[in-house]
Amino acid sequence: MFDHPDYDGHEKVLMVEDAMSGLKAIIAVHSTALGAAAGGCRLWGYESGAAALSDALRLSRGMSYKNAMANLPMGGGKAVILGPVGADHRTKVMEAFGRAVNSLNGQYITAEDVGVGVPDMEIIATQTKFVSGISAGAGKSGGDPSPYTARGVRVGIESAVRARLGRPELAGLKVAVQGLGHVGMYLCEELFNAGANLVVADINPARVAEAQSRFGALGVSVDDILTQDVDIVAPCALGATITEYAARYIRAQIVAGAANNQLATPEAGRILAERDVLYAPDYVINAGGIIMVNGEISGNNDSAVVAEAVDAIGPRLDLIFAEAKSENVITNEVADLMAKAKLRAARQAKAHTTLVA
Ligand code: NAI
Repeated sequence: MFDHPDYDGHEKVLMVEDAMSGLKAIIAVHSTALGAAAGGCRLWGYESGAAALSDALRLSRGMSYKNAMANLPMGGGKAVILGPVGADHRTKVMEAFGRAVNSLNGQYITAEDVGVGVPDMEIIATQTKFVSGISAGAGKSGGDPSPYTARGVRVGIESAVRARLGRPELAGLKVAVQGLGHVGMYLCEELFNAGANLVVADINPARVAEAQSRFGALGVSVDDILTQDVDIVAPCALGATITEYAARYIRAQIVAGAANNQLATPEAGRILAERDVLYAPDYVINAGGIIMVNGEISGNNDSAVVAEAVDAIGPRLDLIFAEAKSENVITNEVADLMAKAKLRAARQAKAHTTLVA
């Protein structure tokens, strides 16, 4: 484990197997230097336990960087449940997962991610208080974080458009959205309302049909979505879709979307930069959902206040794009350096407090 290429100094990794319910899960706690490790739970049919472990570790480190960059008082963690989970025993699986989260005594706080929704969180909440993403009343944020993630991505795309295209707004621009799940569909709505033209793809044809009828989107095949003749590509499916091959053939001038770990390799990021394609670092642009979760955890979940915090993603990206340009460094490396510096400072401050105490 300690030699695993994605281990990166994780504070704790919990492997859970519950024979009664059939739950198999991994909870990865990358860092609690800034606070309890917060990050969603993903349910996915992994090819192997090793693939699930890599995903958990990479996503968990990403959450440390994401929370640090969003200036949230939260560390980074993530959970994965190894699917599939049959509908007949889903409740038992979620209850067992809730007990596993509870066993960490607040070091990790869970929420929704791919494959897991608000009803699951409500089951988990019967076993632990260390859970978020639960529905809230009118005027309050809570429940599904995707609308806030989509809002942040739209704000981030606007920032990229200012930086790369020198344009103040999205009206008339073409955006290719890969993946029309929770975030992708809300993002289409945000972009449509801002006057953008949409090209979309999803492995689920019903989602494509919905985007076509609601937003006049053009549906294309999942194999062609990244290489469309558009201004912006927004990856909103799973991670690692920007391979080195894709990076060479993308025709858009901007890549900015919601998916976690969009770049399959660091080299893919370098190829984009060499081709002058501006990449919005994923964990900066997609922080809207976790900003909502922080509002829920801290009790400051007035919708307008949360929306304002999400909109701060725009100026944050403006800064990253400006620094990348002036220092001639690629955008994701600028973000990594900033995030690592924040985590290092938090670790040092924590060590100092412990010493003084
Ligand atoms: P989701 O599971 O609701 O949607 C994913 C969509 O992508 C589905 O409609 C699926 O059919 C589609 N898809 C899968 N493979 C595809 C392919 N090869 N080509 C085209 N479409 C494909 O997930 P959700 O919640 O919308 O998340 C999307 C991405 O954003 C994930 O990477 C997630 O980790 C990330 N994210 C989500 C947040 C949230 O608030 N839900 C917050 C931050 C990141």
